[in-house]
Amino acid sequence: MSAAFDDWMKTVQAASETDMAALLPAADVLPAKLHAAMRYALLGGGKRVRPLLVYAAGALFGAAGDTLRRAAAAVEMIHAYSLVHDDMPCMDDDALRRGKPTVHIAYDEATALLVGDALQSQAFLVLAEADVDNGALPPARLAAMLRLLAHAAGSAGMCGGQAIDLDSVGLSLTLPQLEQMHQLKTGALLRAAVLLGATAGKQLDAAETAALHAYARAIGLAFQVVDDVLDATADSATLGKTAGKDAADNKPTYVSILGLEASRALAEQLRLEAHAALASFGEKALRLRELADLIVQRKA
Ligand code: IPE
Ligand code: IPE
Ligand code: MG
Ligand code: MG
Ligand code: MG
Repeated sequence: MSAAFDDWMKTVQAASETDMAALLPAADVLPAKLHAAMRYALLGGGKRVRPLLVYAAGALFGAAGDTLRRAAAAVEMIHAYSLVHDDMPCMDDDALRRGKPTVHIAYDEATALLVGDALQSQAFLVLAEADVDNGALPPARLAAMLRLLAHAAGSAGMCGGQAIDLDSVGLSLTLPQLEQMHQLKTGALLRAAVLLGATAGKQLDAAETAALHAYARAIGLAFQVVDDVLDATADSATLGKTAGKDAADNKPTYVSILGLEASRALAEQLRLEAHAALASFGEKALRLRELADLIVQRKA
């Protein structure tokens, strides 16, 4: 990863943090416990891969700043909500997230449930309030962006994948079943991040859409394959979440079905597929290519 990429990443991460802090109710606004817990869940942690994808895809077509900021915050809010619920006792029952106690531990279960609900609503509010008055973002494109996010978050996307994940405990899925689960629970939101960033710049034509779908398909699957590998190989301090949880919970993963070496090889193959999908965009896709590298080569 180049020094320029590192600088760009830190700049986007810091800008997203500032934006999200401003786009949530303050911690002393009533109901203060809920607002403090929403801020606890969203701020001060995480790699911010989805905002990074929004900005990198926005660079393809010169998207306007306000729209990108809102799209990045919205998709990260959905992601943070999914983590809060994923960690609850009724799902993965995890005590550690982003190096801190999970929301239901730091607060309580009912608060964690409401934090997820409220972050999801806040995400759509933040995006719906994008500036359509200056002409840079036609209302039809904003509507398309809202649809993209709703589709990715719901039963045909992240929630659907989580449902399959929970129903699969103790089962040995086939590779196509495993891929479908990963594409939904993780790939859908990553794809939304890419498409939101690009659509913030222009209404995509069929060829642009197909290329970005191919890229997102590759990084979406790669992201969860690497998540499975790290769960089996890294330690909790490095991950900021409990390591070894998938095997302990008897979850079907790429590691349990393909083994470590084949999983790593698959992630590398997907990285190359992601690069190939971007060929028609040339130099403008530099950051998207580098993000594919980050997603596959990350250590946490
Ligand atoms: C973890 O996502 C959950 C998955 C979808 C695999 P991230 O690895 O992006 O978590 P943060 O945002 O950096 O904490
Ligand atoms: C969760 O997958 C994906 C989500 C939709 C949150 P995991 O259950 O593997 O995520 P981690 O490992 O707890 O972050
Ligand atoms: Mg899970
Ligand atoms: Mg989990
Ligand atoms: Mg995991």
